[in-house]
Amino acid sequence: MEQIGEILISEERIKERVTELGAQISRDYKEKDLVAIGILRGGVMFMSDLIKEIKIPLSIDFMAVSSYGMSTKSSGIVRILKDLDDDIEGKDVLIIEDIVDTGLTLHYLMDYLKSRHPRSVKVCSFLDKPSRRKIEVPIDYLGFEIPDKFVVGYGLDYAQKYRNLPYVSVLSEEDL
Ligand code: IMP
Ligand code: MG
Repeated sequence: MEQIGEILISEERIKERVTELGAQISRDYKEKDLVAIGILRGGVMFMSDLIKEIKIPLSIDFMAVSSYGMSTKSSGIVRILKDLDDDIEGKDVLIIEDIVDTGLTLHYLMDYLKSRHPRSVKVCSFLDKPSRRKIEVPIDYLGFEIPDKFVVGYGLDYAQKYRNLPYVSVLSEEDL
């Protein structure tokens, strides 16, 4: 069995950072037409906390993509499981992701969303694991940079478990 190890990012630190990001996004998007696009399922907890800290009008939409299955290693194959509900033409899109690891998912998503002619596309990711990057992607707003460890909690899962932890924890090595 896999086990929860050390707490990497506490609930308090997450709250603080999310509040800062919300304030920054509120300033940057004042004159814009913001659509926050949450990436299911991992981005959901971050998104729901973040949008409460964004103090300007916005709309939300969701996409679900799959690149991993049950494994912790990236296959590089991205499949759209759920597409946007609304048109984003002329809108200022902010992608809300849980983590950028190899960058393959985000690279694909950015291309896909740009093809729908929004006015702008930017990225807000809760976590960044830069040591594993395979393809360069811009992260405009970042919660935390983390080392090359498999983490769970605050939306992130291992085999669909642990998403409900209110903090970020490292999963013990032996089963990965
Ligand atoms: P990428 O395409 O390799 O950047 O992978 C991004 C996706 O992989 C994320 O949206 C997560 O769902 C998943 N992922 C990558 N690293 C971790 C991790 O440490 N814990 C949980 N999920 C992860
Ligand atoms: Mg995931």
